[in-house]
Amino acid sequence: MKKLKVDYVDLVLLHQPLNDYYAAYRVLEEYYKAGKIKSIGVSNFSPNRLADIAAFNEVIPQVNQVEVNPFHQQIKAHTNMQERHIQIEAWAPFGEGKNNIFQEQTLQEIGKAHNKSIAQVILRWLIQREVVVLAKSVHKARLAENFDVFDFELTEQEMLTISRLDTSSSMFFDFEDPKTVDMFVELIKKRRNL
Ligand SMILES: NC(=O)c1ccc[n+]([C@@H]2O[C@H](COP(=O)([O-])OP(=O)(O)OC[C@H]3O[C@@H](n4cnc5c(N)ncnc54)[C@H](OP(=O)(O)O)[C@@H]3O)[C@@H](O)[C@H]2O)c1
Repeated sequence: MKKLKVDYVDLVLLHQPLNDYYAAYRVLEEYYKAGKIKSIGVSNFSPNRLADIAAFNEVIPQVNQVEVNPFHQQIKAHTNMQERHIQIEAWAPFGEGKNNIFQEQTLQEIGKAHNKSIAQVILRWLIQREVVVLAKSVHKARLAENFDVFDFELTEQEMLTISRLDTSSSMFFDFEDPKTVDMFVELIKKRRNL
C-alpha cells in the first residue's frame, strides 16, 4: 500500500495453494476485517482446494483466478465456484497467444460475422459466461480494441460452437504434477536469492 500510495487495496489474491497458504489467507482476512483490503480471493485453486479453504475460514474467497480460454474452458470448476458464490476470473484469456489462437478458424469466422477480431470474440464469450476477465496488452490500440466488446452479442449457436474448442487441459501447467510444485519452489528460491 505504501508503494502504491493508497490507503486500501480493492482485491488481493493468493497466487497458489502452496506452502502455508492457510496462514497467508488468515492474514488477508485480518486486513479484510480492518478494511484495508476490500475483497480477498485466491488463484489456481482446484475445486477441492477451493471447497477446503471456503469451509475452514471465516471469509469465503470472493474470487478464484484460474486459466480460462477457449482451449481450457473450466466448465466443471466454474460450476463449483458458482455453487459456492465465488466469482471466477480468467487469467490468460488469450492463452498468451499459444496454439495459434489469434489464427483459430472458428473464432475467425464468428468474428467476421460481427465485424470483430478474435480477441474481441474471446472477451465477449467470457463476459457472456459471466467470467471476469482481465486482458493484458502493452499496445494502446489493442487496449482500446479489448474494451470495444459491449456493442455486440454472440448467439447461442456461436457460444455452443466455441464450447467445442475445449480440450479441458491447461496450455501452461499441470497442477496435479509434483514437478509443477518443484518449478514454483525453484522460482521462489531464485526470487529470494536462496
Ligand atoms: N494467477 C496466475 O497464475 C496468472 C498466470 C498468468 C497470467 N496471469 C494474469 O492474467 C492477466 C492476463 O493474462 P496473460 O497476460 O498471461 O495472457 P493473455 O491476456 O492471454 O495474453 C496476453 C497476450 O495477448 C496479446 N494481446 C492482447 N490483446 C490483443 C489483441 N487485441 N490482439 C492480439 N493480441 C493481443 C498481448 O500482446 P501485446 O501485449 O503485445 O499486445 C500478449 O502477448 C495478466 O494480468 C497476468 O498477470 C495470472
